[in-house]
Amino acid sequence: MSIAQAVLNYDLKNAISNNRFVGLWRLMRGFRLKYFGAVVSVGISAGAKMVTYMLLRYFVDSYFGESSPTVGLPLIALGFVGLALIEGGFSFLSGRWAAQTSEGTTRRLRNYIYDHIQHLSFKYHSGTSTGELIQRSTSDVDAIRRFFGDQAIGFGRVVLLFVINFGALLRLNVQLALVSVVAIPVVVLASAFFFRKITKAYEQFQEQDAVLSTTLQENLSGVRVVKAFARQQYEIDKFEKDNFEKFKRGKRLLLMHSMFWPVSDVICGLQILLGYYVGATMAMRGEITVGTFLAYMGLIVWIIFPMRNLGRLIVQISTGMVSYNRVMDILRENREDLDSGDVHPAGPPRGELIFQNVSFEYEPGKKVLEDISFECQPGQVIALLGSTGSGKTSLVNLLPRFYDYTSGQILLDGVELKRYPRRYLRRHIGIVEQEPFLFSRSIRENITYGVGREVPQEEVEAAAKAAAIHDVIQSFPQGYHTLVGEKGVTLSGGQKQRVAIARTLLKNPRILILDDSTSSVDTETEAEIRQALQNLMKDRTTFIIAHRIQSIMIADLILVMDGGHIVQCGRHEDLLEQDGIYRKIYNIQTRIEEELNKEIASAG
Ligand code: UTP
Ligand code: MG
Repeated sequence: MSIAQAVLNYDLKNAISNNRFVGLWRLMRGFRLKYFGAVVSVGISAGAKMVTYMLLRYFVDSYFGESSPTVGLPLIALGFVGLALIEGGFSFLSGRWAAQTSEGTTRRLRNYIYDHIQHLSFKYHSGTSTGELIQRSTSDVDAIRRFFGDQAIGFGRVVLLFVINFGALLRLNVQLALVSVVAIPVVVLASAFFFRKITKAYEQFQEQDAVLSTTLQENLSGVRVVKAFARQQYEIDKFEKDNFEKFKRGKRLLLMHSMFWPVSDVICGLQILLGYYVGATMAMRGEITVGTFLAYMGLIVWIIFPMRNLGRLIVQISTGMVSYNRVMDILRENREDLDSGDVHPAGPPRGELIFQNVSFEYEPGKKVLEDISFECQPGQVIALLGSTGSGKTSLVNLLPRFYDYTSGQILLDGVELKRYPRRYLRRHIGIVEQEPFLFSRSIRENITYGVGREVPQEEVEAAAKAAAIHDVIQSFPQGYHTLVGEKGVTLSGGQKQRVAIARTLLKNPRILILDDSTSSVDTETEAEIRQALQNLMKDRTTFIIAHRIQSIMIADLILVMDGGHIVQCGRHEDLLEQDGIYRKIYNIQTRIEEELNKEIASAG
């Protein structure tokens, strides 16, 4: 691995610190030498400026004053030019290196946050708003970039400018030098005061900024709901309210800034006046030469300028620190461990599953599944039926370990599920989610998404045929290369579901889970899918969640769920004989169907 790659791969978990200075320092790892170079260049550039004023003093005093020149004019002119070149050149270098540092560190930070977000648990994602995550990984990272690019380097610059020029002043005249810095304690006190105020105001501003991004993001994702309920005005008002709050907080932040600048400007202005006054008086009295006074007039500006900027920088640095904390909040979250586990089977599982008194809760104390026990053999079909909210999705989500059950045991091929690495389970368990999501990429890319290798077109088509979507895709002008979403075709709910089924089938999982996957499909297409799946389900353990008895009649085991419990289980024929929910549902569904058929017959 090259050094550059090692720097990019540095684990930023190490950069987490309760002390923000320490944390920011750690973020810079791998770029520190460059940054040091940037600061040294700033120093050289500042030194050249100082020497320029010294040369000015020599020039004035030797050509217009008492002492006689020992260096010729051309050489002096050359000196001025050389110094200007040094000053400009090193200023450029420092800017370049500082930019490389700030862009480099934040590039790595952005990559790392993205990587980290991919590995956070389901639980974290369902409890955190997308808008907030987006805001933190863009706006806050940007504030950190400004911290490295402008503020920290600026800080080094003003400190060096101050030290070098103050040193020169001391050499010119100690009395003058001391007079030039009497205002420093006042500036430092004022900066400290505003630093605290502005940190707080900026924190509140960024919080509200996150609220606004969340509002916007939710509104865009839910635009159909907004339109369907004609709630545009409500949404506009809500946005306006959030935006007004951001405006207020932004105004407060600006007010703090705008109070700080005049205060520091007045102090600095007075300081310069005092310096000029004392300097001029001394020059008139002949205590210093005119050349010294001219050099002093230049130098004092380069002492006051850093002083004034120091305050400004201290105040701006606070924003970088607030953002550092907001970003680190994300990195502090533990990743879901994909690879830990002590059993590593070489091949896919056989697919035998045993649930023993399994219970599960999302929030402590609120059981969503209780005392679930059943068994299934490899290749069997298990159907789940039950009212909405009865825990069907929660149950199947335990299998790929999206969540871990809280008590009891699930055995896969006789081994406790928690002993398998999550990566292994997710490779061999395919799930078609209740509300599948397709990416704004081509249909082909969507179908091959889970495979991670080049797939021959025949395989893709076979999966699409099994999901009864091949003909639909063929009818698009660009076939499998048709884009889905914003820039391409808008698929219907049922088409989306079928693309999602194809995507999961192509993965060729040993355990297949279809969570209500045929709910947006008409009865005819459903029968078609069922037919195709019959073949595909042969060697796999399959879980089907469905509401139509038609689709689950063939199951080897039907679990009827209610309120997190299994209330009935068995085969279709057994369940019909029992007096229970199953028979009730069956009767209702067949009656509706019969009536429909009768109506169709009489109409015909
Ligand atoms: P499920 O999502 O498991 O229900 O939620 P279900 O049987 O699949 O329902 P339908 O048919 O798709 O509508 C079971 C319970 O778990 C809670 C829900 O509020 C519900 O009461 N739940 C679900 C959570 O608390 N957190 C979640 O992230 C998901
Ligand atoms: Mg569900």
